[in-house]
Amino acid sequence: MLQVLKIGGAVLTEKDRPFRLRRGEAERIAHEIRAALNRHRGMKLVLVHGGGSFGHYVAKAFLDNVGMIDVEGFCTIAGYMDELNRAVVEILNLYGVPAVSVTPRALFFLRSDGSVEAHSNVICKLLERNIVPVLYGDVVASDEGFKILSGDLIAWFLASVFKADRLLFGTAVDGVYDRDPTKFRDARFLSRLSLTMFSNRSASFAGSVRYDVTGGMMSKLSYGVKYIDSVGEVIIFNALRKGYVYKALTGGRIRCTRILP
Ligand code: IPE
Repeated sequence: MLQVLKIGGAVLTEKDRPFRLRRGEAERIAHEIRAALNRHRGMKLVLVHGGGSFGHYVAKAFLDNVGMIDVEGFCTIAGYMDELNRAVVEILNLYGVPAVSVTPRALFFLRSDGSVEAHSNVICKLLERNIVPVLYGDVVASDEGFKILSGDLIAWFLASVFKADRLLFGTAVDGVYDRDPTKFRDARFLSRLSLTMFSNRSASFAGSVRYDVTGGMMSKLSYGVKYIDSVGEVIIFNALRKGYVYKALTGGRIRCTRILP
């Protein structure tokens, strides 16, 4: 059983305060991951985390002030993402998860058409040795200078390359709604969502997910169009709910949105 779990930056960091890790949440999640690995001894797991108030904050500063990610921006964003990743991996290790950092900018290249090139066989070798590789949204080289590679795209890409049984997106919301639930009291929670509407470019679908609570729900879904056929179950769930990471990894029942081809 191979699973890819992406934990959103909004779960691990304080959105409105730059460079603040939510240590309590990170520790709880590490504990739940360890418990899931104990329950399913043969489970192979790839972890990916987002940038939250580390990567996004610095990247926005460079994009606003310089208009692009230049060499200084690349090095600075890389440094902050490494700092967040170091803290996350340390906590995972503390809770007994055999996690090691795998730096995306050393393995991934982003082409100008948005497709990804990667040396994923290295990750495969780690998984064979029961290591939990921890990747993250990062700055990477691209055809056009430097670009941000989202942890969501890394998660979809690796889930597809490794034909993962499950791809789990742990976010700060329960899943996808048809409208903004904080504005519309009749917003409907979507427990299933088909990506065919995305590939058909249906206007009604685009309208239905205009509400973008994580800052990346729309792209999280659109990346999937290319990869979903080679992935098993795909689930978006709330990783801030106690016990949900454990339940998601062990196939328990949770409130979530299931993404279908
Ligand atoms: C963003 O990664 C990485 C950087 C800004 C460098 P993600 O797009 O995966 O981050 P979150 O989950 O939205 O915070």
